[in-house]
Amino acid sequence: MKMNMTTRSLLGISLLALFATTAQAAEKVTLKLAHNLERSHVVHQAFEQMAKEVKQLSDGKMTIRIYPSSQMGSARETMELLQNGALDMTKGSASDLESFDNTYAIYNLPYLFKDQKHFDNVVFGNVGKEIMASSKDKGFFALSAYVAGTRSFYAKKAITKPEDLKGQKIRVQASPTTLKMVELMGGSPTPISFGEVYTAMQQGVVDGAENNVPSWVQTRHIEIAKVYSEDEHASIPDFLVISTKTWDKLTPEQQQILSKAATDSEAWQQKAWANVEAETRAQAKAMGGTFVTVDKAPFRAAVQPLYDDFNKDPKQAALLAKFEQAAE
Ligand code: GCU
Repeated sequence: MKMNMTTRSLLGISLLALFATTAQAAEKVTLKLAHNLERSHVVHQAFEQMAKEVKQLSDGKMTIRIYPSSQMGSARETMELLQNGALDMTKGSASDLESFDNTYAIYNLPYLFKDQKHFDNVVFGNVGKEIMASSKDKGFFALSAYVAGTRSFYAKKAITKPEDLKGQKIRVQASPTTLKMVELMGGSPTPISFGEVYTAMQQGVVDGAENNVPSWVQTRHIEIAKVYSEDEHASIPDFLVISTKTWDKLTPEQQQILSKAATDSEAWQQKAWANVEAETRAQAKAMGGTFVTVDKAPFRAAVQPLYDDFNKDPKQAALLAKFEQAAE
C-alpha cells in the first residue's frame, strides 16, 4: 500500500501519542494490599505510613490502596488471591505462611527466642532476610517484617500448667506447628481465621485462644475470655508479602521506592508496638481482665518433641542452628 506524505505523518503522530500514553501508564501504578487486621492495629498503621512514603517518593505516581479488616477475605484467602494474580500484597503472620512455604514453620516453634534482642537479631538480620526471600519461586516473598509481641493463652479460667488445657478447645492459626504445640501441651487445637474468633468464643465453639495482649484487647476477645495466662509460648512475626509477578512488573526505581518505604515502616512499627503493648495492658485491667503469672518450664518440656522432629530434617536443622548462633 502506498502512503502519501499526510497519511505517513498522521500515522507517525498517532504512534508517538500511543508510546507517550504507554510510557505514562507504565510510570503510574496502583498496588492493592488487603489484610485481616483492624484499622486500629499498629501493623495496619505501619502500612499507611508506607503508602504515604511511597506516594511522596514517587511524586504521586505510585499508589498503595489498602483494604483492611478481612474485606478481601481471611489471611489464607488473601494469600490465595495473591498467588492467583488477583492481589498484589497482603500481610501474613509466619503461622499463615507456613502452609504456603514450609521455611516459615521455624517461627512457629514455641520458646524459640531467648529474649527480644535474639528475636530482633534473627528477624531483622541475615537469616530473617534469607527466609523472607525463600519463597520467590512459589510466587511471593516478604518485603518487611513486624514484631508481634509474645503469645499466651487466654480463656475464662487460668491456664497455669499443661493439665489445665485438658479438654479445652483452643483457637489457633492455621499452622501445623502450632496445632501440634497445643496437642503436645494437652489441649484441643481448633484452627479458625482471625476475624471469626470472637463469634466462635461467644458461641462456645472454642474455650479459649492464644495471642499477644494488643490482639486480645483490640479484638474484644477479652470481653469473653478474661484471664490471660502468661506462658509466653511464642513470638511470631508478621510480614508484608508481595506477589513475585507484581514485583517483576515494577521498574527498578519503583522497586527501590517500595523497598525503602517498607523497610522504613518496620522501624516505625517497632516503636509504636512498645506503646500499644503498654496501653493495651492498662486497658485490659480497666476492662476487668486479669493477668496470671505462669511457670513456663512444664510447657517448655511438653513441646520438646517438636524440636526433635525439626532436627530430623537437615535443612530445618541448619536453619535452627543459624537461629541459635544469632542469640550470641
Ligand atoms: C496476631 C498477628 C496477626 C494474626 C493474629 C492471629 O495478632 O499480629 O497477624 O493474624 O495474631 O492470631 O490470627
